[in-house]
Parts: sequence; C-alpha cells; structure tokens
Amino acid sequence: MSPTSEPAGKPMIAPSILSADFARLADEAAAVHGSDWLHVDVMDAHFVPNLTLGLPVVESILAATDIPIDCHLMIDNPERWAPPYAEAGAYNVTFHAEATENPVGVARDIRAAGAKAGLAVKPGTELEPYLEILRDFDTLLVMSVEPGFGGQSFMPEVLSKVRTARRLVDAGELTILVEIDGGINADTIEAAAEAGVDCFVAGSAVYGAEDPAAAVAALRRQAGAVSPHRPL
Ligand code: DX5
Ligand code: ZN
Repeated sequence: MSPTSEPAGKPMIAPSILSADFARLADEAAAVHGSDWLHVDVMDAHFVPNLTLGLPVVESILAATDIPIDCHLMIDNPERWAPPYAEAGAYNVTFHAEATENPVGVARDIRAAGAKAGLAVKPGTELEPYLEILRDFDTLLVMSVEPGFGGQSFMPEVLSKVRTARRLVDAGELTILVEIDGGINADTIEAAAEAGVDCFVAGSAVYGAEDPAAAVAALRRQAGAVSPHRPL
C-alpha cells in the first residue's frame, strides 16, 4: 500500500500556508502550483500558544485548490476535532502524539472518514514509545522546531528520529511516509533528505521567495540530488 498518490522518483514538497497571506489563500495556493501537498497548520491557542484557523477555512481552501491538503493539527482533543477534517476532504490529517491518550483510536477514525492518518512528534518527544502504533498510521511528522510559529531555526538533532523511521520503512516493518516540518530551506533540506525524509514542509522558504512555485521546484531538486527516492 502506498500512502501517497505521488509519482515515484521525486521528494515531496508541502508548502505551509502559515507563511502565506491569509487574506488571499486561494491565490496563495495557486502560487505554489506543482506542490505535492499544501500544508495547513491548525493551531488552537491551547496545545500551542498560537491561533490560526479551523475547519471552515480548511473547507474553503479545499474548494479553492486541487493540491492535496495536508492538515497539521496542533490542537488539544484530536479525538473530537480531527475526524471532521478528514470528512471535509483533507488528504492527510496529522495530529500530535502529545495531545491524546488514544492515538490509535484517532488514527482509525481519520482513516474511516477517508483520509490518511499522521502522527506528529515535537522535538523533545522520543519516537520509541510510538514505533509499534505507527503501523496504524500513514504518515510520521517529525517536528524540527517547537510547533507554533513559522520562521524558526531547524533542529538537526531530530534527524535521529527520521533515521530510525527510515530504517524501519526500508526494512519493510513500517509503511509510512516520513515528513519533516520546521526550518526547512536551501541550507537544511539536504541534511533532512540524507536522513531519509520523504516529504518536506516549508513555510517561510517558499512564501518568502519571490516566486513560490520556483522555490518549491528548487527545494525538490535539491532534495532529489541528495537522496534517491525510496519507493514506499
Ligand atoms: C510550525 C508549523 C510549520 C511552519 C513551518 O508550528 O507546523 O508548518 O509553518 O514554517 P517554516 O518552514 O518557516 O519553519
Ligand atoms: Zn506544520
């Protein structure tokens, strides 16, 4: 089973609209045509100290673009709030391991509602306690900054978690897509690619560029030059 509909051979790039102009989200989605996923950061001012957007805005984005939507829920109580994003048509719905006592139950509900299910881990969260349950997930999102804000510096120490996940996927023990989020740019993407990331979230590096679509293509080329894509 492949967790993505992406053609083999290319690393995936998921621009984060957190760094876009929220008053022009349809245009900002169009500005990153050619992206693999559009990453939408949902923050509730409880799980993280910042507040962004919720389901009604995600529904509007879904109606405005054909790019598959990758929802990153930085929220408490994903049991209650995650499945509606899947029902609305998000392609991948990721919630935080730190936000629930029942991650497998949430993943099952997301999948039952028709989306891929992702588990996110903050920089300080160990992966080992979650390795077993990753069988119930399609995506692992390794945070390479503290969640809450765009434009922070990449934390290279999280790459050990990427390497662990990559090893298990390559050994056939897990079927997940390995995604990284935070501080990805031209200076950091190669280290992440080398460690085995499949999908790279980039906010400020894409929307801060003069030509966001060209920035996406350049990041994909850079990652692809380092690591040949490993088919999942
Ligand atoms: C941070 C968000 C990220 C953020 C990344 O909590 O989850 O998706 O938008 O932004 P950059 O790429 O600027 O670090
Ligand atoms: Zn994110």
